[in-house]
Amino acid sequence: MPTDEAKPKAGLEDVVAATSAICYLDGDRGVLAYFGYDIHDLARGASFEEVCYLLWHGRLPNRAELGDLQSQLAAERALSEPVLRLMKQLPASDGMDMLRTLTSALGQYDPQAGDNSPQANYRKAVRLTAQIASIVATYGRMKAGGGPIQPDPALGHAANFLYLLSGDRPSALATRAFDIALVLHADHELNASTFAARVAAATLTDLYSATVGAIGALKGPLHGGANADVMRLLIEIGQDAPAEKIDEAIRGKLARKVKIPGFGHRVYRTEDPRATHLRRMSKELGEKAGNTRWFEMSRRIETLATGEKKLHPNVDFYSASTYYTLGIDIDLFTPIFAVSRISGWTAHCLEQYANNRLIRPRTDYIGPQHPQPLQPLDQR
Ligand SMILES: CC(C)(COP(=O)(O)OP(=O)(O)OC[C@H]1O[C@@H](n2cnc3c(N)ncnc32)[C@H](O)[C@@H]1OP(=O)(O)O)[C@@H](O)C(=O)NCCC(=O)NCCS
Repeated sequence: MPTDEAKPKAGLEDVVAATSAICYLDGDRGVLAYFGYDIHDLARGASFEEVCYLLWHGRLPNRAELGDLQSQLAAERALSEPVLRLMKQLPASDGMDMLRTLTSALGQYDPQAGDNSPQANYRKAVRLTAQIASIVATYGRMKAGGGPIQPDPALGHAANFLYLLSGDRPSALATRAFDIALVLHADHELNASTFAARVAAATLTDLYSATVGAIGALKGPLHGGANADVMRLLIEIGQDAPAEKIDEAIRGKLARKVKIPGFGHRVYRTEDPRATHLRRMSKELGEKAGNTRWFEMSRRIETLATGEKKLHPNVDFYSASTYYTLGIDIDLFTPIFAVSRISGWTAHCLEQYANNRLIRPRTDYIGPQHPQPLQPLDQR
């Protein structure tokens, strides 16, 4: 039984639950780094594929190593017939439900699913990263009435995703914006979905099962689901809403203690460093598209939330208007989080498998005293 001093705060706040070399996070200073590389430097100077390599190997690749990884990802991108068939059969109601079910199916069609050797798990990390992107893009395309298309091995991960989604070669600006979004979402220490993945991996279950658990955790509105809720809120307020209407909506929520999606964070006490880049991208893409209204609305909401409650935007706030301006369906916003975070989930699972001990904490028991007298059924 935990002693009073050992009792964790609700939600395991500030509890250190694992040792990891992957992600450094300083919530007071707003610092995020993967294997020591600052997120600002990675956002400016590295592609998503370079970040995948970094997360899986602990160092950045040289040109030849990057080329190898790009080829491996390209070789794993095409979806198999059974997976496509299943996608067509399932109801296209929720992108995260679709992704959860199809990721589970991927495991059933992978003969290596149960092989937990480091080599097999590395191959599965690459495969999951390639396949999840194809699943989300193809689902989005089919939901919009298009037929699935074959990936283009000449395109990088971000460009391929946009191509599979729309059928058109994306512009350099759209590709770079999406690539940066993937870099920014790749890992974030022991967030809820990564913790879920690590807990599952620590039972020595397979990587697909651990990923399915992570997808389930990511779906929730307190985690990855927030980016879709942000866009729903912006639309609810209305693109042409005057400033007073925006203020009224936000002040009303704050007064009623209703959470504003895309704000607040368990760890950051200052600006989420990822929001800095997404804010800029939301603005740049809006300017390019000739519609900065969503960005301006977001800015106004930010000013209110920060001014009145010292709430800072998190990664989900400006990713909403960024994706929307790229023409992406809201139903894909949270699945796109998974398209990136699969790199972090698998990196954490590989780290867990390499030095494993079952994760099995305790509860602070607050139920009835033991022993309770057991009354026979007809006397209760
Ligand atoms: C991220 C989040 C779950 C962190 O939760 P947490 O660490 O448990 O923080 P709490 O919910 O205890 O919030 C602490 C205080 O800030 C307020 N707060 C936190 N986030 C808020 C938000 N988004 N809108 C309004 N108020 C918020 C809480 O009401 C609480 O105020 P109080 O002390 O006056 O009661 C929370 O900020 C949230 O729900 N945000 C919205 C969903 C979201 O964007 N999730 C994505 C996270 S990356």
